[in-house]
Amino acid sequence: MKLNIDSIRCVGCGLCENVCIKNHIKTKPSLHEVDNNECFECGHCMAICPTGTITLKIYENQPERVEKYDATNIPIETNDLLQLYKQRRSIRWFKNKLIDEKTFNTLFEAAYYSPSAQNIQDTEFVVITKELDEFIEFIYRIIKEDEDKFPRIKQLGEYLQDKTSYKHNPLLWEGKQLILGFSTDITSTIIAMTRLELLAYSMGLGGFYSFFIQKADVINHDKLMEFFPYIDSNKHMQCAFIIGYPRKKFKRTIPHKTIKITYK
Ligand SMILES: Cc1cc2nc3c(=O)[nH]c(=O)nc-3n(C[C@H](O)[C@H](O)[C@H](O)COP(=O)(O)O)c2cc1C
Repeated sequence: MKLNIDSIRCVGCGLCENVCIKNHIKTKPSLHEVDNNECFECGHCMAICPTGTITLKIYENQPERVEKYDATNIPIETNDLLQLYKQRRSIRWFKNKLIDEKTFNTLFEAAYYSPSAQNIQDTEFVVITKELDEFIEFIYRIIKEDEDKFPRIKQLGEYLQDKTSYKHNPLLWEGKQLILGFSTDITSTIIAMTRLELLAYSMGLGGFYSFFIQKADVINHDKLMEFFPYIDSNKHMQCAFIIGYPRKKFKRTIPHKTIKITYK
């Protein structure tokens, strides 16, 4: 069974039963779990209970993660959030300052609270700082297979041969730190990474996604995972985000192609 139930506190309101999508809870004749093996520990029952009757056993050791809030009070203005989205630009020019672990930990809070398919929460991240040069060399050995299709890959090869041949690393520009997201479900990881990215912008950080780094997983996943022996190789590197402190400030939004939306 997955839940701790403090039946003395239960007021029999039935909210937990209503909100459960797995029919795992019944409140008649009194609150109990149904042994249907389907509960995926989403926590809706715990989150909606007015009296704190229900807690999830698996998170017993994380009481500090249980915060009460008032859902009628949305903590950010729509226009403020939209303005953050509008002001976002890919950042490739960075200061020399590195992001410290405490700041990364704040960023990963955004991922921690992200939704995931089937609630499996299997996205894991690697932050690459010290091993960056080694990693880029490794990536190049995989993606060079596509260098005839992508001039950027060829440029990277030339740069790695002779670091004076280009002003910047053609893949990283001025990037000095990378966040890589691994999982079995691409959508879940991209959701988590996008939230992390937007929190980063709210903290004065910035970055860009790298098509070419992620491509290494598409070209030769098994080889790529040799760099990450500590990650389950069934997981794929779903996205790569170069992150840092922006060195340049943009001044205006630019138009985009009109989004095609069909309402039916
Ligand atoms: C999936 C994805 C992959 C990207 N790959 C790269 C990349 O390899 N190198 C790069 O400099 N920018 C990359 N970008 C950034 C885009 O080039 C950028 O979003 C686009 O030029 C528009 O600029 P903006 O993000 O400032 O609006 C990528 C963006 C996305 C979403």
